[in-house]
Amino acid sequence: MTTAFSPVSGNAYAIGACQPASADLCQNELLSLTPPCKAVHWLDAGTPVILLPEPFATSAPNISAAKPIFLRHMFPADLWLPPDTLANADILADALAPLITKPVALQIRRVAVDRNSELSFAGTAALAEALSKKGLLLPEQKQQAPLDSNVLSGVITPEGGIFGVSKVSDNISPHAGGMRHFTPEETAHLISRAEHKLSEAIEAFSLELPKGGEALDLGAAPGGWSKVLLSHGMRVTAVDPASLAPELSGKVAHFAGLAQDFAKTELSKQAPARFSVIVNDMRLDVAESAQVMVSLAPLVMEGGLVIMTFKLPQKGKTAAIKKGMAIMEQAYARQNARQLFHNRSEITAVFTKK
Ligand SMILES: C[S@@+](CC[C@H](N)C(=O)[O-])C[C@H]1O[C@@H](n2cnc3c(N)ncnc32)[C@H](O)[C@@H]1O
Repeated sequence: MTTAFSPVSGNAYAIGACQPASADLCQNELLSLTPPCKAVHWLDAGTPVILLPEPFATSAPNISAAKPIFLRHMFPADLWLPPDTLANADILADALAPLITKPVALQIRRVAVDRNSELSFAGTAALAEALSKKGLLLPEQKQQAPLDSNVLSGVITPEGGIFGVSKVSDNISPHAGGMRHFTPEETAHLISRAEHKLSEAIEAFSLELPKGGEALDLGAAPGGWSKVLLSHGMRVTAVDPASLAPELSGKVAHFAGLAQDFAKTELSKQAPARFSVIVNDMRLDVAESAQVMVSLAPLVMEGGLVIMTFKLPQKGKTAAIKKGMAIMEQAYARQNARQLFHNRSEITAVFTKK
């Protein structure tokens, strides 16, 4: 922690997570909630201590229902422990036990810890073992906590540890800090790192891609997203003036031109609505990208799924999102939008065709 923070007794707090570069956007989003929440302290640039208007169990469903874009994870800050209580796993497990009413998943992350930080923490594995001995831990610990379980979350900082137990479904993401890490096997044969963005979006928003359906991939090169769509059993038309990876040759139809030209060509043929999915990762101004999507709406089947990244400008990010959403809503119904772990200066938005 940059400066020590003392929670006021009787107040409810959550520990949040957002991309460090989006801290201001996350704060504005919290303040605009009804009732408003506020980041009253930052453990590090991406980890706010959020003052909640009501206890976590009441506030969390309201916050989730508002579908925040920049807050990617949260958990209740129920127990604040000083650094000297973190070194011994059994003592720590004794302190945490009263929070736990049924076996939990365990998600502990270190925050604001650098090489110079003096930290005496027993470690997550030792804590897991101590909790397990007490019968307080779910038998199989996975990176993604089961959605119907409770999770014990914690952050370990040089100032101490902050812990809380909640329903996984109340935390926005089932991953610690909303960080969906892919395994080395999942990362081994990527065409592009962008693949993770689409895979994460499909998982985070629980999207069903219709097997055997037709997908349109705008801004497809070098082809990571096309590969993901193929892996879901879809037939793919990839649009990009740039080349696709050789491994996609013969597997996708490639329109080697701009999306605007693809739209003109298809619409002049009065082609029927044949796409059940459109994805768009074009490196393009948000409003322009959204306009292309609206022009392509006649080619999208009713209820068809849209997954697109909004590339955010250096300045005026909120205005750009608002404008992009307003254009998209001419033809599509907004379902969700979030800055996912694998997004950089962008967000991922999901719509369905109206
Ligand atoms: C971030 S890359 C896409 C990566 C891709 N999703 C993947 O998984 O490999 C952005 C792409 O958008 C393409 N692009 C930019 N403007 C475009 C436009 N107007 N029409 C089609 N493609 C465009 C660029 O050529 C570039 O290949």
